[in-house]
This record gives sequence, structure tokens and C-alpha cells, in this order.
Amino acid sequence: MTALRTLAFLSLIGFSTSQTSDCSYYSLLNYLNMTASNSVLQIMRPVKSWTNSTLVQLDMFLLGILEVEEKSQTITTHIWIYMSWTNEFLTWNSSDFCGIEEITLPKSLLWVPDVRINEDVSDTGSIQESLLVTVNSSGWMYMSGRQRLTYTCCLDLMMFPFDTQSCNITFSTMSLNEKTIKLGTFNSDEVLNKVSAEAMVTMGEWDLKSLITFNGPRARNRLRYMVTMERKPMLYVINLIVPLFFFLILDLASFFISEARGEKLSFKVTILLSISVLLLILQDMLPSTEKSLPMIAMYCVGVFALVGISVLEAMLVTFLIDLDCYCGKKAQSSVNASEDIQLQTGDVTESAEAEEKGQVKEDRCYLPDHCDLLKLILDEVRAVREEAGRQYKENKKRGRYRRLAEITDHVFFVLYFSVSALFLAFMYLVWIAKVI
Ligand SMILES: *[C@@H]1O[C@H](CO)[C@@H](O)[C@H](O)[C@H]1NC(C)=O
Ligand SMILES: *[C@@H]1O[C@H](CO)[C@@H](O)[C@H](O)[C@H]1NC(C)=O
Ligand SMILES: *[C@@H]1O[C@H](CO)[C@@H](O)[C@H](O)[C@H]1NC(C)=O
Ligand SMILES: *[C@@H]1O[C@H](CO)[C@@H](O)[C@H](O)[C@H]1NC(C)=O
Ligand SMILES: *[C@@H]1O[C@H](CO)[C@@H](O)[C@H](O)[C@H]1NC(C)=O
Repeated sequence: MTALRTLAFLSLIGFSTSQTSDCSYYSLLNYLNMTASNSVLQIMRPVKSWTNSTLVQLDMFLLGILEVEEKSQTITTHIWIYMSWTNEFLTWNSSDFCGIEEITLPKSLLWVPDVRINEDVSDTGSIQESLLVTVNSSGWMYMSGRQRLTYTCCLDLMMFPFDTQSCNITFSTMSLNEKTIKLGTFNSDEVLNKVSAEAMVTMGEWDLKSLITFNGPRARNRLRYMVTMERKPMLYVINLIVPLFFFLILDLASFFISEARGEKLSFKVTILLSISVLLLILQDMLPSTEKSLPMIAMYCVGVFALVGISVLEAMLVTFLIDLDCYCGKKAQSSVNASEDIQLQTGDVTESAEAEEKGQVKEDRCYLPDHCDLLKLILDEVRAVREEAGRQYKENKKRGRYRRLAEITDHVFFVLYFSVSALFLAFMYLVWIAKVI
């Protein structure tokens, strides 16, 4: 609207200064037949011979990578588009018009190629196209526009977060065919890359690697920009990969916690819960593509499975030890019964012996106190010996399951350690070593 007003203002000035001077835009517009409503220039493709195709040169610069949505497989960028073509009807000799080299006109008055982006899924409100086009004295026109472009791209997340994404942005015309319009770039790829790298304001977690244009000879009415960008993986390494690695190490270390009171089991279950929290975080980030599981998901699931199995093993060991205690108690009660009998018989024989000995060797005890003391010591020693014998028997009976538990634990630890080491080595070779 402002453009139109400016134009009207300019033409008014041109009119008031009248035909005497040729230095106003009015005479030029008059010469170009733009003052009267000349709708022909809006309708037709501006070529003098219809067999001539129009070359539209289109440069795209990347000003920012705003967002990459792995879930919906879309990328949001901020781009700047520069488009130029030739209008064979808008030419003049600048020396005839006080050296006016170029003039800016409203876009609505002229023919503009309808170039669109095929992958575009952004809402139209995000496009800020200029309403004006500039034309110079040889009929060469250009316009520019900024756009917050959201485009679809099939993201390959196999190597996430060490991934590099290559996405195509394809410009093509909806209505015109190859014979009438050709697309190309104005600047070379090097210039596009250089300008994009300099103009780039924000890249988020990404690094722009390259901007390559494909403009094959077969389909000249299509221009393809391949944007290659690399993820900065540090946050994911710190947030996911390193914690998972430490959880696995912690789980390995938990084999050295003593079996007692189920501490080991609860520790392992805590580790398992922590890993499932990380799995939840991962689920928020990655799309559920059934085709191929990303390496990081494999890593997470692998660690989860390993820790899960080790929790099961800890349960088995605890069960064996409990079984052992139960059997031990049973055995102890029977042992106690027999012990009592033995003790009784022992007491009887002893007392009988003592009586006999007392009668025979009474004279050897000079003082009755001494005799009592010796007897007491004898009783004590016997009690100790009996106790020791009972415990030995008990242990022998009880140890069967405990030993089984210990062997299971040792064998499992060796297996678990080697499987974990193999798993980590495999992950390193297939995933991280490929990237570094
Ligand atoms: C403007 O129109 C006149 C007559 O209609 C024609 O002679 C002249 O060539 C046109 N000028 C341009 C620049 O096309
Ligand atoms: C375009 O048209 C001009 C004549 O107006 C002719 O000389 C030229 O060869 C044509 N170019 C093409 C590419 O057809
Ligand atoms: C433009 O006009 C000047 C003088 O009127 C003339 O000398 C010159 O050759 C013209 N240029 C073209 C491209 O026609
Ligand atoms: C118009 O612009 C084009 C592209 O920059 C250039 O090649 C051409 O020489 C310009 N024409 C004049 C008369 O300046
Ligand atoms: C992008 O375009 C190039 C050239 O046509 C093609 O080789 C490549 O496979 C395309 N990439 C995607 C992701 O479609």
C-alpha cells in the first residue's frame, strides 16, 4: 500500500513539474506505459518471442537453523531468498531520462514467477516477501524476501546424536513448465556458502556443513538446494551416554556389596529405575520408526537388559541364601534336641563318674574349694567343646545353598563382566568410532 502511495506521490510530483523536465520518474513511467492501467504487463510472461524461456535466478541464503523436530521430521530455518529475471518490455536508455538507472515498482503491477518450495509446511503468516520489485534500465528485475521456513525432511537418526543430516529444499514452479521457465542460481555455491556462514545468526545445536545446489540439465524448471548440517553431540553425551555408562559400571561394582539384608538388591533396582528415567527422556526425542532402531536406543535397551538380568540374578542369590537360613533353622532345632539328650546323658555319666572318683580320690582334694573350682572349669571346657562341635555340624549342613549362591554369583559376575565389555566394545566400534 505504501508503495502504491509512494508511486502516486512520485507521479504527482512528475505531473506538477510537467513535461519540461525529464528528470522525474513520471516521464519514465509514462514511457514504459505504466501510468495508465496496463494490465497486460501483469498477465503475460515478459518475453518478446514466446519461444524464449525466462531464466529465473534464485539464490537462497540460510540465516538460521531454528529448530529440528525429530518426532515430526521437520526442520525450521530462517532463509533469505533473492530472485531475479528479465522483463524484455521494461527497457530504456538511461541517458534519455536524466540517468535514471533503476526504478522500484509494486509487484502487483507486474508479472512475477510463481516459484514455490515443495517441502514447505510452514504457515503462510511466516513469509515476509517484499511488495516491491526493482528493475534496471536493461529490464533486469529483482526482488527479495525473508521466510521462516518449516520444511519436511526424512531425518536419518541411526547415528543419533552423532548424526549429519542432508535435506533438500526444492524450488519449482507450480503452473509453468520447463519450456517457459528455467531456474538457476545467480551466485556460485562458494559464494552462497560463504554468505550463509557469515550471515548465520543462530544455529542451535547444529553446524552448517554445506549448501549445494543441484540443477540438472534434465529438469531445469526445478532447483534443489541440499543443506547438510551436523549435530553438536556434547549435550547428549553428557545427558545420556555417560550416565548410562556409569550406571552399568555401578551395577558391576554392586557385586562387591555383601549379600546381607538385601542391600544389594535394592541398590540394583534403584539403578534400573534411573535407567528407565533416561529411557523416558529418549522416548521424547526420537520418533518411533520401526525400520531401524537408532544406535542410542539399542545402547539404552542393552544397558537396561543387562542391569535387569543382574537384578534377577541378585534375586536368585537372595532366595538361595534365604533357603539356606530356613534349612539351617530346621537343622538347628533337630541338632539342639539331640544335643540336649547328649548333654543329659553326659551329665548323668559324668555325675556318676564324679561320684565314683570323688569317693575314690577324695583324699586328693586337700580343700573342697579347689575341687569345686576344677569341676567348674571342666564343665566350662566341655560346654565350649560341645558348642564348637554343634556349630561345625550346623555350618556343614547349612552351607550347601550358601555355597551354591556364591558359585552362582561368581560365575554370573564373570559372564556379566565379559558380556558388558563386549557390548560396550561393539557399541563403540559401530557407533562412536565411525563418527570420530
Ligand atoms: C507504449 O505504448 C505506445 C502506444 O500504445 C507504444 O507505441 C510504445 O511502444 C509503448 N512503450 C513501451 C515501452 O512499450
Ligand atoms: C530470444 O529471442 C531473441 C529475439 O527476440 C532471439 O534472438 C534469441 O535467440 C532468443 N533466445 C532464445 C534462447 O531462444
Ligand atoms: C542512449 O542515448 C544516447 C544519446 O541519446 C546514445 O548516444 C546511446 O547510444 C543510447 N544508448 C543505447 C543503448 O541505445
Ligand atoms: C542491470 O543489472 C544486471 C544484473 O546486475 C546487469 O548485468 C546489467 O548490466 C544492469 N543494466 C544496467 C543498464 O545497468
Ligand atoms: C537430495 O537431492 C539429491 C540430488 O537430487 C539426491 O541425490 C538426494 O538423494 C536427495 N536427498 C534427499 C534426502 O532426498
